[in-house]
Amino acid sequence: MATRRLAADAAGIAEAGALLRAGGLVAIPTETVYGLGADAGDPKAVAAIYAAKERPRFNPLIAHLPDLAAARREGAFGPDALALAQAFWPGPLTLVVPAAAGGRVCDLARAGLPSVALRVPGSALARAVLAAAGCPVAAPSANRSGRVSPTEAAHVLGDLDGRIAAILDGGACPVGVESTIVACLDGPPVLLRPGGVPRANIEAVLGRPLALPSAPAGSAPVSPGLLASHYAPRAAMRLDATEILSGEAALLFGPAAPDGLDRALLSLNLSPAGDLAEAASHLFGYLRRLDAAGPAVIAVAPIPADGLGEAIRDRLCRAAAPR
Ligand code: TXA
Ligand code: MG
Repeated sequence: MATRRLAADAAGIAEAGALLRAGGLVAIPTETVYGLGADAGDPKAVAAIYAAKERPRFNPLIAHLPDLAAARREGAFGPDALALAQAFWPGPLTLVVPAAAGGRVCDLARAGLPSVALRVPGSALARAVLAAAGCPVAAPSANRSGRVSPTEAAHVLGDLDGRIAAILDGGACPVGVESTIVACLDGPPVLLRPGGVPRANIEAVLGRPLALPSAPAGSAPVSPGLLASHYAPRAAMRLDATEILSGEAALLFGPAAPDGLDRALLSLNLSPAGDLAEAASHLFGYLRRLDAAGPAVIAVAPIPADGLGEAIRDRLCRAAAPR
């Protein structure tokens, strides 16, 4: 299948919407990363997402909606979920809530769970495509399973060209790390994945700390995508490196130069000024570029854990996990 390149204009948006409605796979830019979209109500289209990504096993998907009203047709919003949706939507926050009776998101997209993950993206272009599609759009990151998430159209095509109907090219994704996922089920809200909305902002709205996921031994993971060895570059990763060893590539942060920097095969700085939002926006693209230089190891400078640093460190730890 030849993958069509759609422009980010009215015709491209209408075409993306029509392809989605017809059961096609369309990569769409969001403010976080590119998503691989399909009609979340069409099990055949959702199954095609898993096939194109080569996701090894069924992992529930986020359903994307153009606004809160559409989201409320798919899930039951208690007071916490409603407060978070009103504070952060449109934006990089995903809410896991009880699935609504009569919602369109199919069982396969929810991996059979009684809950559903919902998100109204901050990207106006993404919302325009969702409105044109007129259905909830299931969209995991538009990369092959286990690879680094795509923040530019070229990343998507490198992984999926010929496997999907179309890609809407909206340029680079400004946030650069995936959405924060918060479960609002029974009990206190739980942080399932740190992401584009910092934890502190969410806790400020809730007026209390987020709970941690509790996974009783032997049970399925609460959020299956939270497995280790995700976002894996070919190179091994060495985190919190304060010295660069011979033959390593270096991922830097802030104004300080680590010892041995002249030995680096290639070095890129996520944010010379030490700005975590800038660093997040460069993270996945720089990992891909460093990996393409072919080092055995990518050494990563220490990155603070506050604000967006929590999400950046989370993705780096997964990229560093044994595989
Ligand atoms: O920023 C993002 O969230 C991007 C863009 C495209 O929107 N999407 C994304 O999707 O990161 P994906 O499939 O890579 O991650 C979705 C995560 C997975 O970890 C999955 O396990 C979790 O959401 N998830 C989905 N439904 C869930 C549910 N009902 N309960 C718990 N976790 C759920
Ligand atoms: Mg992903």
